[in-house]
Parts: sequence; structure tokens; C-alpha cells
Amino acid sequence: MKLLIPALVFSACLPAAFSQEQIIPKPAEITLLKGTPARLTPASAIVSTTHDKPFLNRARQLQQMLSKGTGLPLPLKTPQEAPKNGTCIIIKKDPSLASRGEEAYSIQSSPEGIILSAAHAKGIFYAGQSLIQMMPVIFHDKKADKSSVKWNISGTPFKMVDYPRFSWRALMVDEGRHFFGEKVIKQIIDQMALLKMNTLHWHLTDDAGWRIEIKKYPRLTSIGSKRRETEIGTWNSGKSDGKPHEGFYTQKQIRDIVQYAAQRNITIVPEIEMPGHASAASVAYPFLSLKSPAEVPTTFIVNTAFDPTSEKTYAFLSDVLDEVVALFPGKIIHIGGDEVRYDKQWKGVPEIEKFMKKNNMKSYADVQMYFTNRMSGIVAKKGRRMMGWNEIYGHDVNGDGGGKAGAKLDTNAVIHFWKGDTNLGKNAIRDGHEIVNSLHSSTYLDYSYGSIPLQKAYGFEPIFPGLEEQYHSKVKGLGAQLWTEWIATPERLHYQAFPRACAFAEVGWTPAGRKDFPDFKKRLKEYGERMDLMGIHYAKDIVDQIDKSDFFNTPRLGGWTPDSVADKKLSLDASKLIKSPGRYTITLLYEKGANAVEIESVALYEGNREIARDTHPGKSGTQKENIRYILNVPAVKDGATYTVKAKLSGSGGDDSYGTVYGELP
Ligand code: ACM
Repeated sequence: MKLLIPALVFSACLPAAFSQEQIIPKPAEITLLKGTPARLTPASAIVSTTHDKPFLNRARQLQQMLSKGTGLPLPLKTPQEAPKNGTCIIIKKDPSLASRGEEAYSIQSSPEGIILSAAHAKGIFYAGQSLIQMMPVIFHDKKADKSSVKWNISGTPFKMVDYPRFSWRALMVDEGRHFFGEKVIKQIIDQMALLKMNTLHWHLTDDAGWRIEIKKYPRLTSIGSKRRETEIGTWNSGKSDGKPHEGFYTQKQIRDIVQYAAQRNITIVPEIEMPGHASAASVAYPFLSLKSPAEVPTTFIVNTAFDPTSEKTYAFLSDVLDEVVALFPGKIIHIGGDEVRYDKQWKGVPEIEKFMKKNNMKSYADVQMYFTNRMSGIVAKKGRRMMGWNEIYGHDVNGDGGGKAGAKLDTNAVIHFWKGDTNLGKNAIRDGHEIVNSLHSSTYLDYSYGSIPLQKAYGFEPIFPGLEEQYHSKVKGLGAQLWTEWIATPERLHYQAFPRACAFAEVGWTPAGRKDFPDFKKRLKEYGERMDLMGIHYAKDIVDQIDKSDFFNTPRLGGWTPDSVADKKLSLDASKLIKSPGRYTITLLYEKGANAVEIESVALYEGNREIARDTHPGKSGTQKENIRYILNVPAVKDGATYTVKAKLSGSGGDDSYGTVYGELP
């Protein structure tokens, strides 16, 4: 026993395990080589072999990031000034990577140097994000003394070439319902950067709040960004927090955040909702709607639509978008377009009925189509391209009596598919549209982990089943959405988003054939440690959850049934598993049945002789506690029989079935 103590102390002092291909999202191509890994030391430097200004900017950024995380100076040097006695990070421009897109990069890492290559400066940023994830997690600890950390890059030398599967890898944050502010959004941007997500879809206006300063219309924020109180719990709960909620981003803040995001390869796509979800704006300027409410709604059911028959509406929206495009340099402007309450907002309203008659429109969907195509023209005149939720395609997917539009949507519009039959999405593509796939039942991060478990998120496939190959490139990618009706705090926001956003990052980046959920879950453990240190309140219970998928490649020794539980013992042949000395992990995983099992101990027998034992209480039911047992096998005998014996009992009954897995760690 005494002998063990120094060993334990020693392992506690080591930096976290060195990363072996730990990166999320999993890189497209990586080869781990044999030998000692590259290590950054106080003698290391960053050496740029190009004078290209964007590359030099990225080199400077890398210097700042890595120096902050490691505490090493890592000065920026020219090749002539490169130190001879330290492993350097060498930045190279390599036009041959352009065929993989502007986000592609390669890394060659060996003790002689760490070469980061890219055709475009964006690739250098992503190479840096991968390097960070290959370093010990203590990198992210702002308080630790790092002077004795060994800054190994991965556990071995390696070569990788990495590039994304999709060009649109988005996270949407709804700040209309709840305003979080600059610190929270920058923290999300940092996570997105590390996960190589490149699009922040920023939902800035909704019924319950307008969050972007518009100089020409100050009431949008002086009135529209405040509400008296907020409904809590769920839809129609009848309960309220009784507290005012308010907040908006000034244009100065937005410019700063846009720049912050751009430095991290992220384009912000602003969403200004129209014609529905417009209560806050209509309260501020009642001429905007035929049914403006008296106050900014305090529940999330109210859904006001702009007046599509009035020229004043278009003039207002055009003015607003003038200021929006001046703030957001990205090509795409999202106009929402979802959930117009035709039945409550337009049906039977004299101005609307008259307008329809005059323009020979048969359905309310046609009225929205008229509105949307006008907005598409307005957006195009400002040099941008319109995007909207799939209602803009003219089908009443919400069943609000809109009917189907007769007129066609401007084909330049990007359709954000979230609801309805996937045939709608496929037909929109065949009609010439580009699509972003955000199917609600798979990608809504406000949904519980029960309805969208991590594995379902990970398994999301943005290309619609049955879509002809020639149209695959029309699917720009995917979005994951954080709607915030019932998310009022940053902690809850983090919990709902992470780790599912990590899964969506991998869906968007990693070649489909390289995806592997059990492997992802293993990598997530370490990523979780990183998130902890970065102040992200992710769903630890989900990351720690042990489930069958974790044992995809793990040898199965056998299982238990109610009979073995009644017997209070289980005996399984392990002769095929125990072939060499080592530290074996035996996991008792509950599968089904009314009761959990309580585990007392797991032992290993060589013939009749006990050679290893782990005694600790474990419980394996729908909740799992300490169900891994470690057996240290000092030596093995050829031809011997090995048996794993567990002592267990039923928890309140014997109805339990489970599987026992054994593995060398
Ligand atoms: C949406 O969830 N209403 C796009």
C-alpha cells in the first residue's frame, strides 16, 4: 500500500493526459507518427515565412493566444531571426490548399518544428485552434502556475490536412426573448471559434424585445427593448417573474462584436424579424402594424405582424436595414419570415382583404410572398442577399390558414429549413434555392436533452435523404438554434448549448465517413475540462453519462439477468480478454428492467486463485454511479482460465438486465 502513495502523488502532478487526436471537430485527415512530440519551450518562437499582411496579422494573433495560454513568450520572428535552440511554429502560405476552401490548413508537427500552412489567413487561425486543443487542458486555466508544464503538442509527431465539409456552420442565439449582453455573446463566440463554427446567427428582434440600436428610430430601443415582466416556466404557464427585463446593443458595441467575431473567422448574420414576431417594433411605432399591442408583450405567445399593405412599412424596414448593413459586413441578411399568425393578424382585417382583392391574391401566403419578394429586392439593392425561415417559400407549415402561395419566391433567397416535410426542402433546392438545414426536431438547442439527446444531435445529417447528388452542394450547411423563451440566464444558455453545439460543430466540419459517436464522446471528456476552465456551464451530466454507444468497440464478457441478480453473483469467462498484464476496466452497464443493481465488488480469478479485486459500491440502473471496476493484472499465464466474478444485488427487486464489458484502457 505504501508503495502506491508516491505513484499517486506523481500522477496528480502531471499535466492532463496529452492529447492524441483529441480535437473537436475531428480533423479531415490526420496521421499520428511515432516518436517524441513537438514541445513549446521558453526558447520557442513563431516564425512567419510570408510577408502577406493577413498572414502576419494571424501570426500576431496566434502569438497573443498561445502566449496567454502557455505563459511562454513565443516572440514573432522572421526566418533569419529564428532561434536555433527551440521548436518553432512556422507559418507558411501554401496556395495548393486553396482547392479545399479558404478555411483549410495543414499542420506538420515534429520536434524540429510545427509547420502551419494555409492558402488563406483564415486557415492559420484554425490551425491555431487545433494546436490549442492538442495541448494540455491547463492552457485554459487563467490562474494556474504553468511554469513547469510541458507544452507538448499532442503525444506524438503528426501530419494533418483539415478542411470543412460545409461552408455554413452556424449557432443561432435568440436575444430577442432574453438579452444576455456583450460578455456572454463574446464567450459564445470564443467557443464557436474553438469548434470552428463560422456563422453566428444573431436573432436580434422579436415580439418580446428589440435589441439593436437604430439611430433613425430611437423608440425601437427606448420602448421596444423593455418589458414589464416575463412569463416563466412554459407556454401559457400563467406565471410571471414580476421583474422588468431590458437591454439592447448600441451600434458601437455591435461594431466591436462584429470585429471580435471576424478575428475568429466568424461572420455574424443578423436576423431582423419580419413580417411576424414584430410586437416590440409595433409598440414603439404603432403605424407598423394593423394590430399593434399596447405594450411590449410579457408572454411569448403574442405575435404581431407588420402591415404588408402600407408603403410606410417598407420605408421603415428599408431605413432599418440601411443601418443594419452598415454594421454587418456579411453578405447575408436574415429576415425571419416565420410564423406569421395569418389567422389572428391578417384574416378578416379590411385593409388586408382589400389589398388581396386589388392584387388578385388568393391566400395570405401570397400576401407574405408579396412582402418577402419586395424585401428581397430591398435587401438586394443594398448589395446583400436575403435569407429567411422556410415559411418564406410560401407553404403554410404552421397551419395558420395561410394556404399556399401562387407566386414564386425570388430564387436568390436562401431558405432556412426548420419545419415541415423534407420534400419542401428538396423542392426548394430543385427550384434553385440554397438551403441551410436547421430542422427543429434535430437542431433546436432549447429542446431538452430528452427530445434531442447528444447522439441524435451528433447523428444529424444536413443533406436531405433522397436529395439527388447534383444538388448536394446547394445545402450550405446547418444551424443549431438557441431559442431563449425559457432560457433566462447564461448558465442555462450554456447548459442547453453545450455539449450539443460540439456535436453540431462536428456535423458541419468532419467528413461524414469519419464521424464516430463513441470516439466523439471520448474526446468530449477532455473538451469538457476545457469548457470548465473557460467558464462554460455545460451539461456535465450529459458528458458523464455512460451509455451503450460508449462501448461500441469494447469486448463484451457477457451479461446479467434477474436470475443472476437473485443469485447475488455473476461469473463470466474472461480468458479471451486477459492476454497480457495491465490495468483492465470492467464496466457493468444496466440495459433494462424495473430495478437497478447494487454492485459490491468485481474480482478476477486465474483458475481458482483470486489475482485482482476492486471493491467499491456501484449502482447500475437508469442512473449509473461508479460502474467501472479496475483490475490490475500483474502477470498472465499461458493457457490459464480467467474468470471475472462480481458480487451484486437488486435494488428493491431483481428485475434487471445488463451487459458487462471488459477492456484494457
Ligand atoms: C422558428 O422556430 N420559429 C423558426
